[in-house]
Amino acid sequence: MSEQGKSAAVAGKAEAGSAGIQTVQKCLDAGCGREFALHDRAYTCIECGGPLEIVTQNPAANGAALRKAWETRRGGLEPRDRSGVWRFREMLPFEADAPIVTLAEGNTPLYEAPRSAAYCKLDGLRLKHQGCNPTGSFKDTGMTAAVTQAVVLKAQTVVCASTGNTAASLAAYAARAGLQSAILLPHGQITSSKLAQSMDYGAEVREIDGNFDDCMRLIQELGDDPSIYVANSINPFRIEGQKTVAYELIEQCGWNVPDHVVVPGGNLGNSSALGKGFSELWKLGLISRLPKLSVIQAEGAAPLAHLFARIASAGLENAAEEIEPVTNPKTLATAIKIGSPVSWRKALRAVLESAGSVITVSEAEIADAKAMIGRDGIGCEPASATTVAGIRRLVASGKIKSSDDVVAVLTGHLLKDPEYVSQYHRGTLSAEAGGAPIEGAFRNVPVRVAARKEAILGSLQGAK
Ligand code: F0G
Repeated sequence: MSEQGKSAAVAGKAEAGSAGIQTVQKCLDAGCGREFALHDRAYTCIECGGPLEIVTQNPAANGAALRKAWETRRGGLEPRDRSGVWRFREMLPFEADAPIVTLAEGNTPLYEAPRSAAYCKLDGLRLKHQGCNPTGSFKDTGMTAAVTQAVVLKAQTVVCASTGNTAASLAAYAARAGLQSAILLPHGQITSSKLAQSMDYGAEVREIDGNFDDCMRLIQELGDDPSIYVANSINPFRIEGQKTVAYELIEQCGWNVPDHVVVPGGNLGNSSALGKGFSELWKLGLISRLPKLSVIQAEGAAPLAHLFARIASAGLENAAEEIEPVTNPKTLATAIKIGSPVSWRKALRAVLESAGSVITVSEAEIADAKAMIGRDGIGCEPASATTVAGIRRLVASGKIKSSDDVVAVLTGHLLKDPEYVSQYHRGTLSAEAGGAPIEGAFRNVPVRVAARKEAILGSLQGAK
């Protein structure tokens, strides 16, 4: 970290908008716990390198009054009220007059998915579709907060490493704020739809010869430069925005807590954020228990699942182990092709606190689950479908009961990766270059017919 950053770091605690409310960035390392002001640009602790988290002490917080205020704002016309993130602004670390950068993110649908439920052998299953955000992924709920903080700090260049969605989101929010955005992408490993978004939103795109983990390492080095503001989920303000999805979800569930909430795992910011959101609702007395938070990883990119398996066999209370990075992560779900996730400590804490699980699913399971979600009329990208594949496994192993109330979080839209979808249905999708294609159970191939009414009716008859 720069000298400038260090002096800001020791400047002390920051006061949030109202009297008596103390909000700081705090090192999560139990042996350290150092606090930093909100205006400090430390993404990790300068003392011990531990992850930072935003912590608020608000002795006067009244859960019931907050719930009422949030519900009243739903349907409001003000930009702050129309955003599914800023609607919950009492829980965000910003002054009341902060210059918010919003694209009316959040307020995403929670769908019943009966076919996917039957596929998982569940009585019911609901899908929270974060792909319905402005840039087509859940990243927008965090990016509105991170880019707002960049404006508060008067940053000029916002940067991120990305498997595609963070980049598209940052590029869009930076464009709204009139900031320069620079994104590092692993060359040749991003879907063309995601790359196209970043190009269109005017980002400086830099394609790196390496994988996502190499890009992330470079971002952490660049973060030392005072001209740069890092918008990856290592930035605790990103997590603050993303945690509001937990509030929105519980509100949509009529303030009843689902038994299980299941998310995909990549860099592990999303699971960390949801865990924080549920935990805050619980502390406010707005929910009486935590939903079990489970994280699903692709088999070839599953460092947290490996760690979880080691901890589970040693006894869950013995969680002192470190993650072992996967050096050459592999999965067709490119969004989560990550071997060294930065937020693993926070994610693991959220899973353990809520008695959830971390498991892996195969490429074929992801592909079939994605097509099954499609049969419910809901389109998501491959990484999102790990959830339904994982739920199916958790039901089969008895960790989830058929009668349990289960919500899967779909993180990205189907149109983020149409090439994958097309290859699956045409039977040409293979996990390894030149390898055997995945034998999709739910393939749906277009049929070519003559330009005659009878030919069309005849072919439809045959398809019944
Ligand atoms: N699903 C999608 C569609 C994603 O884009 C990502 C992450 C994840 C799941 C995993 O979420 O990292 O919070 O555990 N995408 C990042 C990116 C890494 O750069 O777009 P996570």
